[in-house]
Amino acid sequence: MKKIVLSGMRPTGKLHIGHYVGALENWIQLQDEFQNYHLIADYHVLTTSLDTSRIYQDTIDMIIDWIASGIDPQKSPIFRQSQIKQHAELHLIFSMLITSARLERNPTVKDQVRDLNIENITYGHLGYPVLQAADILLYKGNYVPVGEDQVPHIEIAREIARRFNMTWGEVFPEPEPKLTNFARLPGLDGNAKMSKSLNNALLISDNDEEIKNKLRKAVTDPQKIRKNDPGRPEVCLVFTYHKKFNPREIETIEKDCRSGVLGCVSCKLNCSEKISDFFKPIREKRFSLETNPNLIKEILLDGEKRARTKAEETMSEVREKMKFG
Ligand code: TRP
Repeated sequence: MKKIVLSGMRPTGKLHIGHYVGALENWIQLQDEFQNYHLIADYHVLTTSLDTSRIYQDTIDMIIDWIASGIDPQKSPIFRQSQIKQHAELHLIFSMLITSARLERNPTVKDQVRDLNIENITYGHLGYPVLQAADILLYKGNYVPVGEDQVPHIEIAREIARRFNMTWGEVFPEPEPKLTNFARLPGLDGNAKMSKSLNNALLISDNDEEIKNKLRKAVTDPQKIRKNDPGRPEVCLVFTYHKKFNPREIETIEKDCRSGVLGCVSCKLNCSEKISDFFKPIREKRFSLETNPNLIKEILLDGEKRARTKAEETMSEVREKMKFG
């Protein structure tokens, strides 16, 4: 039997190319070797914002990017956490298996509290990793593709799985993180992280003109002021983009940047073209999906039906081991 991969994202609407490089590409590669489940963590959105007015549209926009990028919903069900009640049920049981002190030590939540200036964290936000553990373990996920920042959450899921198995008998595997191979893409402003909220992102759905304009304004090596000044590719985010989207020319670009032959304007123009070419087929597929909203709805309903069957199987086992019912 194939091992199970559970991948998840919060619905943030249209995705950026950092999501593609950091997550989607990895998911797509895993599609044949493993049984994948693709979760849309819509309840998790509530931990940082109570404004749910855009949640449905954000979900649809994100699914369109997933499918256009190459996720095959027939192989791997796509589903919303909120539509599968077993997530809430398992979360409740799991919440008894971990102390609040343990959750308070979680570095990912600590960072969020600092970055978002949260004064008093809610009970639900503190329990973010407990819900995430339920997401993973309901489907008996063996692997979870994540970035470094999510590793502490997987560790919590492992602890909860162990605790459950020791108390009531073996039901859950101990899930392992599967780290992405390509380091994440920097933002257009030089920030280490590309993010829509930082307004430094190239979207998968951006057209040629948008890509060109955004890249034109991207930060490069601050010491390369005039066209023929020698540059330092290692500090330039455009060079990182070239590495990913233009590997064939990478050596020439590096040499010509260092020697000052290559100026930033033409380097950026070249880079925008390569990015445009790379995402062109995805954008075309995206466009045809956008014009067919019923198809996306059907994909979601079908994925939710399949996910629910698996989730209910696990919950029956859980209730049986615990002697409930
Ligand atoms: N915590 C993840 C994030 O913020 C989203 C998520 C929720 C998730 N449940 C999951 C990821 C289960 C993997 C598996 O990116």
